[in-house]
Amino acid sequence: MTSVNNNRFFRACHGLSIDRTPIWLMRQAGRYMPEYRALRQQHGILDIIRTPELACEVTLQPINAFDLDAAIIFADILPPLTGLGFDLEFVKGEGPLIHNPIRTLADVQALHYTDPRESLAATLSAIHLVNQELTPRGIPLIGFAGAPFTLASYAIEGSGGTQRLKLKQLMYQHPDIWHQLMSLLARTSGEFLLAQAQAGAHVLQLFDSWVGELSPYDYRTYVAPYTRQTIAIAQQAQVPIIHFGTNTTGLLPDMRAAGGDIMGVDWRCDIDHARSILGPHTILQGNLDPMILFADTTVIATAARHIIDRIGHQGQHIFNLGHGILQHTPVDHVKFLVDYVHTYSEQYYAQ
Ligand code: CP3
Repeated sequence: MTSVNNNRFFRACHGLSIDRTPIWLMRQAGRYMPEYRALRQQHGILDIIRTPELACEVTLQPINAFDLDAAIIFADILPPLTGLGFDLEFVKGEGPLIHNPIRTLADVQALHYTDPRESLAATLSAIHLVNQELTPRGIPLIGFAGAPFTLASYAIEGSGGTQRLKLKQLMYQHPDIWHQLMSLLARTSGEFLLAQAQAGAHVLQLFDSWVGELSPYDYRTYVAPYTRQTIAIAQQAQVPIIHFGTNTTGLLPDMRAAGGDIMGVDWRCDIDHARSILGPHTILQGNLDPMILFADTTVIATAARHIIDRIGHQGQHIFNLGHGILQHTPVDHVKFLVDYVHTYSEQYYAQ
């Protein structure tokens, strides 16, 4: 019977037996797909996110093109900042820009908590629309949010591609501002995750993409309490939570301690090293270098095999890239990878 409960990604997230390694790809909907680029000719990314029918359409694009085991709702980690009072723009060719970043205590005091059920209602509606399409096909939907630290990076720096000097200056020198900002972000992120699960998301992923910029001590001191708060709020929904960051080899035990049922591993870390750090019972997600998808298919196959051979026989593994898929990735290589992971991993799960 076709049911989400029988889906291999859903089952792997719950620690149940599977028939093959499940696979989905971070940022699986996006500019590498011609269908997405066509829609972007007419609509800005924020328009797509704020129009449930369009967000639903984009979410389904990779599901219809590839044999993926899960969908992820089309959204971005940054729109939740607008509900707090940040002025967010996606600048063509440059990425996200916050026009009013936090510099002073007055800046943070001017922010105001808004219930994500109001400010992000479009994403919650999109979740309903996607599930109408995918639940009958037995495909689960992932909801997501940015973690407090990664959101704070944008809120303080104003953009992504920096060394985060402003962020660290504020974090070390102005604990009052840091605490107020991180408290607001932790609550927003947690409530948004909870709302998405209540709207029908089967699994949640917390993206702490930039947390690898911190030493383990600083992570424990300045970040973990807020991440823990976010996860504690989201956990009320009792759905599995994936906790992901990049450059996190040295942080994995502390991130695990902050919470999450599945740990996302970036490609800089051997997947069996992550396994040895985190123990046999932690479900792992990852961790192919997204750039390998630009190589030819024999290289892709070798790299995928390497990951599956190392931990496939232990189960408890969800295949993914070690970070989001890149813009110019060849579509036929994505199709190759998805099919290859399913075919090759079957030997490890045959009864
Ligand atoms: O996975 C999916 O298919 C869901 C969609 C998704 C997007 N962003 C859509 C998007 C997800 C899960 C994200 C998460 C996100 N957004 C993160 C965390 C994950 C990661 O990759 O580290 C971060 C840091 C952001 C912030 C962000 N959004 C940046 C830095 C950029 C610009 C850089 C870029 O790749 O262009 C975006 C824009 C963005 N978000 C695009 C998409 C498809 C491309 C923009 C466009 O369509 O013009």
